[in-house]
Amino acid sequence: MSITERVADRMGLIEESATFAVADQVKKLRAEGREVWDLGGGDPDFATPDHVNGAAIESMEQGNTHYVASRGLPELRTAISKKFEEDNGLDYDPLEQIIVTPSAKHALFIALLTTVNPGDEVLLPSPSWVSYEAIIRFVGGVPAFVPLESEQGFVLTAERLRSALTPRTRMILVNSPNNPTGRALTREEVTAVAEVAEEADLLIISDEIYEKILYDDREAISLGTMPGCLERTLTINGFSKAYAMTGWRLGYVAGPQEIIAEVLKAQQHTVGCAGSFVQAGGLAALTGSQDCVAEMVAEYATRRNFIAEALDELPGVRCPKPDGAFYVFPQVEASMFGDDTAFTNWLLESAGVAVTPGCAFGPGGAGHVRMSFANSQTILEGALEAMRRVWPSS
Ligand SMILES: Cc1ncc(COP(=O)(O)O)c(C=O)c1O
Repeated sequence: MSITERVADRMGLIEESATFAVADQVKKLRAEGREVWDLGGGDPDFATPDHVNGAAIESMEQGNTHYVASRGLPELRTAISKKFEEDNGLDYDPLEQIIVTPSAKHALFIALLTTVNPGDEVLLPSPSWVSYEAIIRFVGGVPAFVPLESEQGFVLTAERLRSALTPRTRMILVNSPNNPTGRALTREEVTAVAEVAEEADLLIISDEIYEKILYDDREAISLGTMPGCLERTLTINGFSKAYAMTGWRLGYVAGPQEIIAEVLKAQQHTVGCAGSFVQAGGLAALTGSQDCVAEMVAEYATRRNFIAEALDELPGVRCPKPDGAFYVFPQVEASMFGDDTAFTNWLLESAGVAVTPGCAFGPGGAGHVRMSFANSQTILEGALEAMRRVWPSS
């Protein structure tokens, strides 16, 4: 047997993460001495708030460096339950309906592992975050992309969802605010998801990790609050984005007790539990002052306006302002550069600006690129200046 034949067949279904691939390319160019403006990643440039760091350090110093309950620290689950009630209008019992996970990504992974049978189709409105497709495939499911139209503002409708239904459809996975488009689902769209889920008897996975990063007084609507949806929804969230805690790896999943009991088995036999002192940091994040979140969001809002307006002024680029998250997803005229991958390569080569090609986010992303403004204003201005220098005049 050759060494490559030792790799399981399922790995052939999965591609390397496009965002990590961009990061690797950036590292390579920098090692060669090139100046690179990296707008590829989705990692806040802010430091984790001091009181969060302090709580974790204190916990560690107190000796909390061992395994803890697989579901998560009881006091953290209580805080998460309170957050759900106050912020989202969701009623989840901390004892039996919430599991704290090492990252929202792991929450998604064990949620899908628990609920998707081989061959089950998962409706995936696209553009959507790069890892959903991979996770669905990992667990033996089939992503059923529902491409949304850029010209119509990536609006999700019941008709579009219905047109992708088959007898094998088992679930719908939604993410609002969305990575990469930055769109937050409106009440009409959330109602459409709920309606179709009910009609076709689907489970809903609602990834709400960007819920705190919203602009222009937009409201975050949790799918679980829609009539009849609490019983069919798994809500995913985490600390990475709102509290600038990407390196901590801390998230959570909440849902019906019967499903969560099964998800717990997947947690127990994969990671056991989320980090003990990491959870103390998470508790401080949720129970401490939320001013740090408001300050970061205010800064993101300023950057959003700057980058969206500057991009929109470039010939051949259309860049609406996102409702939330920290990405812009401009459409770039194909006639100027070819497809989005060709454009991404051209941009990196000629301007030293790293972005993620839209096709990485499924069929709905073609013709776009994702640029992250979880980067300082100086970096954004540098990137825009570099683009203007090489941009064709028409
Ligand atoms: C939509 C979405 N969900 C989940 C995650 C994963 O977050 P975490 O850092 O908690 O794994 C990300 C990270 O980029 C994301 O964009």
